[in-house]
Amino acid sequence: MATNPLIISASARRESDTGAFVQTLFRETPAYTLQLLDYPIDHYRYDGNYSKEDQFNEVVDRLLTHDTAVFATPVYWYAMSGHLKVLFDRLTDLVTIKKQIGRKLAGKRMFLIAVGADEELPAGFEEPFRRTAAYFDMKFISTLYCQSYHVRKRNHEQEMFLSSIRENSI
Ligand SMILES: Cc1cc2nc3c(=O)[nH]c(=O)nc-3n(C[C@H](O)[C@H](O)[C@H](O)COP(=O)(O)O)c2cc1C
Repeated sequence: MATNPLIISASARRESDTGAFVQTLFRETPAYTLQLLDYPIDHYRYDGNYSKEDQFNEVVDRLLTHDTAVFATPVYWYAMSGHLKVLFDRLTDLVTIKKQIGRKLAGKRMFLIAVGADEELPAGFEEPFRRTAAYFDMKFISTLYCQSYHVRKRNHEQEMFLSSIRENSI
């Protein structure tokens, strides 16, 4: 099991504020970053029939090799990005057709990073993450929000967040 955290970066563009923030934040902290844009994931289907291009399993395999998952998303319309929501909807497969895999998420730690234009994260933004973590018996630890203009700056709150990731990744 890898002790470094897995960062699932979920912007809709490659050169992104979310990516820049993750890069700045993890400058000295080893982490594995996965850009969701590189992993085409089909929308959830009740019949479980997915295209051969679908790479949901690859993302889940990667998730299973880390103890700590950090979801990094821009705020789009007061919520997580569409790319990340598609991944979250697909987690349904892990409690239906792939239950044995879903159980393997138990005990892992989850962190949330969000980047948006507004001064504050919208109320309730964290809720799907907290509740999804609870559903899979994962432990939701904390959220770090950064305004778009500040993605290349470091501050005390960020250092605390990083310390918490390091402590939880041992
Ligand atoms: C589709 C879309 C919706 C957005 N909705 C919000 C929003 O609800 N709240 C907010 O603070 N910023 C919003 N923004 C601004 C982005 O969160 C902000 O520009 C962010 O830094 C973009 O990060 P990215 O480069 O990783 O996409 C929105 C941007 C886009 C493109």
